[in-house]
Amino acid sequence: MSPSASPSAAPPALWNRPHLLGLQGLSAAELTVILDRAADFKRLHAAGQTKLDHLKGVTVGNLFFEPSTRTKTSFSLAAKRLSADTVDFTASGSSLSKGETFIDTARNIEAMGVTQMVVRHSTSGAPYHLTKHLKAGVINAGDGTHEHPTQGLLDIFTIREHRGQIAGLTVALVGDILHSRVARSNIWGLTTLGAKVIVCGPATLIPPEIERLGVEISHSLDAIVPRTDVINLLRIQAERQRSAFFPSIYEYAHFFGMNGNRVQRARKDVLILAPGPINRGVELTPDVADGDHSVILDQVTNGLFIRMACLSLLHEARSVSGQH
Ligand code: CP
Repeated sequence: MSPSASPSAAPPALWNRPHLLGLQGLSAAELTVILDRAADFKRLHAAGQTKLDHLKGVTVGNLFFEPSTRTKTSFSLAAKRLSADTVDFTASGSSLSKGETFIDTARNIEAMGVTQMVVRHSTSGAPYHLTKHLKAGVINAGDGTHEHPTQGLLDIFTIREHRGQIAGLTVALVGDILHSRVARSNIWGLTTLGAKVIVCGPATLIPPEIERLGVEISHSLDAIVPRTDVINLLRIQAERQRSAFFPSIYEYAHFFGMNGNRVQRARKDVLILAPGPINRGVELTPDVADGDHSVILDQVTNGLFIRMACLSLLHEARSVSGQH
């Protein structure tokens, strides 16, 4: 279906979910519906169609209980590009400080007519919990160490855009796998679409039994660099680490940071991704972050179209099932 179709048009038969809580359990066909819809939006935007009416009359709430630059801004912009009204909520300065609960906060915002909630929270499962208390559709914008599905989708979209397909590629996720919701969403999405995934980091930052998700484990970035098509450098999640997982930032960067020497040993067309925010000089050096192989800002651009796709598909699925 073209994204320029009317808001009341039926969604593709392969998408009928009212919420997007994670990429775990989504089929290759469902993932492809979202990626294709985002590609359609990107083409329309390039053709000058920057304002569409898919969410006319809809109010989207962006509820961020943790800091965000990219996700919050792009969800807000995505909703506006689809003609929705938006409500942006941040925990700081809210009545949470007076003792109001998470659920009461969300229910009060829903009572103002919000029918789609985008939620980021430090607790894994918080968006799922909301679906039990609200009528609104819920999109997970990152929950604890669980998932960050739209980040996984925009990473996959960016790889597909540069490589044409996901199946058959080898993708390395490097760094703090233990605390990374981005890693989990990438693993579910990439393996479902046929990529080989390698997780690479110090043993202390690789979760036990992660190979059960169908990934290979490596503790040597130097060993895997020559055989990867894509290297996604995950941030050290200092805010979630309750003890020292490596001796020093210097040693982490020495063994697991992407630098010019490692890029020279990589495939000529290697793609360098990072979900951001990046710590220059830790996960990657500035010359790599800003270099020819980096698609980091492409990821940010594509995040807008992925979020437009998710908002519109969920709205259409809910319209068809009468869940406005
Ligand atoms: N990648 C990402 O989620 O960035 P923000 O924390 O800025 O939203």
